[in-house]
Amino acid sequence: MKKKIALIGGGQIGGNLALLSVQKSLGDVVIFDIPAAEGLVKGKALDINQLAAVDGYDCRCMGSTNPADLAGSDVVIVTAGVPRKPGMSREDLLEINLKIIREVAANIQAQCPEAFVINIANPLDAMVFALHKIIGQKKQLVAGMAGVLDTSRFKCFVAQALGCSIRDIDALVLGGHGDDMVPLLRHSTVGGVPLCELLPKDKLDAIVKRTREGGAELVALYKTGSAYFGPAASAIVMAESYLLDRKRILPCAALLEGEYGISGYFFGVPAQIGAGGVEKILELKLEDAEKAELAKSFASVKKTVDSVQL
Ligand code: APR
Repeated sequence: MKKKIALIGGGQIGGNLALLSVQKSLGDVVIFDIPAAEGLVKGKALDINQLAAVDGYDCRCMGSTNPADLAGSDVVIVTAGVPRKPGMSREDLLEINLKIIREVAANIQAQCPEAFVINIANPLDAMVFALHKIIGQKKQLVAGMAGVLDTSRFKCFVAQALGCSIRDIDALVLGGHGDDMVPLLRHSTVGGVPLCELLPKDKLDAIVKRTREGGAELVALYKTGSAYFGPAASAIVMAESYLLDRKRILPCAALLEGEYGISGYFFGVPAQIGAGGVEKILELKLEDAEKAELAKSFASVKKTVDSVQL
């Protein structure tokens, strides 16, 4: 039987998630949104169904504002919320997006409590925490998408600096989805060669800075919202690994229970995603300076999460 993917929020990221899901034949798609956006999501679904004929995709899409249509979903990807505008931090979205997340979580709990839930809404680490708390699923079934995107941004800038193929870059960005995320230079390689041997420190520092500010760079360019192609593709990789039991190791926000010395918070770490959801968290042996950077990032996440009133 075909799998079912629910996209809660059918805006910029939601539309791209729907397109990628169909193009990758991951399953049938429901794009769910509020009544005011009914035309938007029905239009996107119809547009994608018509496109499916061009390349012969077998998955179908529907737009809906009825929570009952979420029932039976295998994967739910949440983008419901407001994106940043120039000058805003992700944390500035906390109050407004928290209100929305409460409603979204109630819908998931009522309609598809067994689904694997991937959150994209910002502030990422706080929204995924709230979703997990309200829905009450086991921790393996809730994850936040940030690390795949942050790592992809880092790889993009490395490829540009070296003029090499992005495919040959291995890298890892850990920590919260904020300005103090931690690109792990010591663990980054290009064709197996340590990145630190290929670029001087000033260039590496510039890449780290641009990665950390990667979301804001796009907000400043778009002016009316935030990134959508990269976030959609990154969440799809996670959904695909779950649906196809690929067991890929992907950096994502997972609920920690002692790993990296953290308990009770979602935080960006390398995780194995397979049919069981977040099946395993990998712990890296970090040097003191890396530990300090991660602690700084965690302090920011903790501050935001601790201010969440559910
Ligand atoms: N239920 C379902 N959908 C909702 C709800 C709700 N309660 N409230 C708002 N939405 C919908 C909006 O109607 C809109 O269609 O969420 C959609 C958000 O789409 P965009 O405004 O285009 O935002 P997008 O760029 O997709 O980003 C969404 O992801 O990366 C984060 O910071 C970003 O938090 C933002 C989220």
